[in-house]
Amino acid sequence: MKLALEVNGEPRTVDCSPWKRLLDVLRDDLRLTGTKEGCGEGECGACTVLLDGEAVNSCLVAIGQCGARSVTTVEGLARGGVLHAVQRQLVACGGAQCGICTPGIAVCAAHIIDRGLIVAGSDSVGDSAAARARIRELLAGNICRCTGYQLIVDAVIAAAHEAVQASTHLSVRRRVTEAEADAETEIDGA
Ligand code: FES
Ligand code: FES
Repeated sequence: MKLALEVNGEPRTVDCSPWKRLLDVLRDDLRLTGTKEGCGEGECGACTVLLDGEAVNSCLVAIGQCGARSVTTVEGLARGGVLHAVQRQLVACGGAQCGICTPGIAVCAAHIIDRGLIVAGSDSVGDSAAARARIRELLAGNICRCTGYQLIVDAVIAAAHEAVQASTHLSVRRRVTEAEADAETEIDGA
């Protein structure tokens, strides 16, 4: 069966059984081998991808469920050749060791940060016990056998800080641009 979908922002067509797992289509048909298989039965989160913006275990999704839908894998987190903040911080904080869980954790953590799920109603992310507990809760479906999770949580906190700083920077720049435009209008009108 031929099936069209969007993968990492690009239109793709695959020709296979509708029962083939999304995980296998990504790795074998589309050669996107960043997505890893751990348990193969929905328990470990290593195979996490975003399907229409929601985190799913790709080992439990049949490709027949993905027609005309959008899939984001770990390869799709980078923008213009620049890694997502969570990818950079996983490296910087030592939150990746053997790497089997890392792509799933990167996808899930990027989803958490990009959705503002740990911003807790303010424009700052505290390095607090509450924020750490919330991150552990949100990443509970992603099992890591190597790191003990502490360094992963450090990386997510650091990436969330980066995201807040970037959005603050953007909103300040937007206000400056608006103020400059207002000033130009006043000068032109004078
Ligand atoms: Fe999919 Fe473990 S490989 S959840
Ligand atoms: Fe090895 Fe997480 S880094 S399982």
